[in-house]
Amino acid sequence: MNKEFFHIRDKIIPGKEIASKYLEEVSQQVAIMQAKHNISPKLSVVIVGADPASHIYVANKIKTCAKVGITSQLYKLPALTSEKELLALVNELNKEKENHGILVQLPLPDHIDNNKIISAINQYKDVDGFHPQNIASLYLNNTTKSFVPCTPLGCYRLLQKIGFELHGSNVAIVGRSNIVGKPLAMLLLLKGNASISMVHSNSKSPHKITKQADLIVSAAGVPNLINSDWVKPGAVVIDVGMNRMEPSGKLQGDADFDALLPIVKAITPVPGGVGPMTIAMLMENCVKAAKVSLKIV
Ligand code: GUN
Repeated sequence: MNKEFFHIRDKIIPGKEIASKYLEEVSQQVAIMQAKHNISPKLSVVIVGADPASHIYVANKIKTCAKVGITSQLYKLPALTSEKELLALVNELNKEKENHGILVQLPLPDHIDNNKIISAINQYKDVDGFHPQNIASLYLNNTTKSFVPCTPLGCYRLLQKIGFELHGSNVAIVGRSNIVGKPLAMLLLLKGNASISMVHSNSKSPHKITKQADLIVSAAGVPNLINSDWVKPGAVVIDVGMNRMEPSGKLQGDADFDALLPIVKAITPVPGGVGPMTIAMLMENCVKAAKVSLKIV
């Protein structure tokens, strides 16, 4: 094989392969739980409306549950579902003893208050880690029994797998969402001992901030935003972006992958990078939820 080609290939972080290792471990844990406690972890997934991308993500989550032996139930609700109706379903799922995890796919339609729904989910079933109590546990760095949001946890595990030295490193996170940017900052600050810069749509000269960073994690939702002007040679780039391009329908990350590959130390591809890790971490959180219900965590 061409030596240079091999070297370039080595820079591509194999998110899908790493995720499949985690899924194997989850399968084993599920089997042990069935044998020892005669229960299978169960996840209930709720989706409201017909957003095609959200339906694809949810279908992937359900498919992966089946693969690792987690029972799942999907509730597809019409876009006109009222906040009251959705709250009623969440309350039902909170009560069901055999149901360990609840995931309400975001975004919800505009007439529904996201925060109200998330806060209504029993914190011990909140496998997304979005409930205020789970956010507080992350903030206080006390997550043994709580849930850490899946995408940030997936990014953290990828960094551990590639041996990235977070301790004392300069990290730039692009995007400040509740799902990725903010919880990831806490995780890398408190568990990684990294120095964190948050870059967002109001930042002045954001590329000057990211250019200083040893690690850039982008969750901006802007295709090809991160180009060679934004990245220091030898930096690591974790691309959380999943932008559907029109009219091809092709998935495009936030990073200009082809332009960055020659200059980075390592980079995640889209698809096949962070996405599979998010789902693997969701499966882990479902097992944890079942363990929490058994009081064995
Ligand atoms: N929408 C985009 N990412 C996520 C996620 O991780 N969880 C939920 N519930 N909705 C999302």
